[in-house]
Amino acid sequence: MISLRSILALSLGLPIIAVRATQYSLVKQYAGAHFFDGWDFYGNYDNLTNGDAIFVTASQAASQRLAFVNSAGNAIMKVDNKTNVVFNDKRNTVRISSKDRFAVGSVWIADMLHVPYGCSVWPAFWSQALDWPTGGEIDTFEAVNMESNSQISLHTVPGCTVVNAVQTSTLVNTTDCSFLANQNSGCAVGNPDPNSYGAAFAATGGGVFVTEFAETGISLRLTRPPTSVWFFSRGNVPNSLQGNASSVDTSSLGKPVANYPTGGCNVDRFFQPQKLIFDITLCGDFAGNPQTFAQTCSGFCYQDYVIGSPSNYDNAYFEVRSVRIFGTSPSVDITPGSSGASQDATSVLWLGLTGLSATLLFLLAL
Ligand SMILES: *[C@@H]1O[C@H](CO)[C@@H](O)[C@H](O)[C@H]1NC(C)=O
Ligand SMILES: *[C@@H]1O[C@H](CO)[C@@H](O)[C@H](O)[C@H]1NC(C)=O
Ligand SMILES: *[C@@H]1O[C@H](CO)[C@@H](O)[C@H](O)[C@H]1NC(C)=O
Ligand SMILES: *[C@@H]1O[C@H](CO)[C@@H](O)[C@H](O)[C@H]1NC(C)=O
Repeated sequence: MISLRSILALSLGLPIIAVRATQYSLVKQYAGAHFFDGWDFYGNYDNLTNGDAIFVTASQAASQRLAFVNSAGNAIMKVDNKTNVVFNDKRNTVRISSKDRFAVGSVWIADMLHVPYGCSVWPAFWSQALDWPTGGEIDTFEAVNMESNSQISLHTVPGCTVVNAVQTSTLVNTTDCSFLANQNSGCAVGNPDPNSYGAAFAATGGGVFVTEFAETGISLRLTRPPTSVWFFSRGNVPNSLQGNASSVDTSSLGKPVANYPTGGCNVDRFFQPQKLIFDITLCGDFAGNPQTFAQTCSGFCYQDYVIGSPSNYDNAYFEVRSVRIFGTSPSVDITPGSSGASQDATSVLWLGLTGLSATLLFLLAL
């Protein structure tokens, strides 16, 4: 299909690749037996969000069966539900972050069958740059305790706000993404789909989360603006996202659940290449906040759930079929985590060119 942008680009003789902002090709896939190869395990207690959790190392995760690929070929990441934890100790769980980082101009699509839930449980699938908060954070999926919905949020340095969002969610908590505002809750939007978390997520066969980390400027005038998150419960997953499609056109996905337009937040200014993260912590700053905890659970977060019998955690696991990364051009939107000097240079070059074309187009669109 020829988009308005393509026609404009053709008629102006601009390189077409720079303007297909909604067309992305597969650049990387985490799936199957090698799912965990591309990730680092945190290997320390939760010193990030004050959770009552120890994020195990890769070898502990393997030996304690807290991270493994199951017989269906799906990645499991779970909280220890075998150990009777004694008072003052923390419970073992998992936090992994991708070795590679993905630049503006990427889309990540996570297909999951189960997400962790239960009192004291705080799971998230999200991303952040090496420098936080300077390089930004995108929370695609986050929820706590027995809430009925998950939520989406961005966290940045001051100056990034939500203006004129084109989205289906009306559950807008806050529109200031600054980590200094609203106790760092970010510009959070509730996911209105009741199947976006908890037992309902699992019972309906899970679903697919799509995060578009889009190019600056390009869509300001021409189509839907950058950085969006979609969620499709299993029964609503569009054909284009089923199977192993090697490309995705985000303009075909309809209105996103959450949208962060350029008008209030220039992506290039507030975001740097993102590492993807899966983690499950317990209690801590969000799930353990007494007010938040009391909304859906009774008793005390640590004393009544984390310690003692492990059976509270039978549902505290991710089951992930795949995480697939798409870029505006194959293989160039990745910043490898180690020894990738030449590819780093390519990424930077690519972003430079994209930025230049975007600027040109932006000027033309005015
Ligand atoms: C958390 O602990 C790790 C390992 O000791 C350390 O490298 C890191 O700096 C700590 N982070 C914070 C925020 O304290
Ligand atoms: C957003 O609002 C909902 C409903 O009031 C609440 O449950 C949720 O914790 C809020 N999220 C944040 C990050 O404040
Ligand atoms: C999709 O790709 C994965 C990984 O290459 C493979 O295991 C799986 O069988 C493929 N599925 C389909 C429907 O082709
Ligand atoms: C722990 O959770 C898993 C997944 O729900 C379940 O299969 C298992 O029976 C639970 N209990 C123990 C002791 O592993």
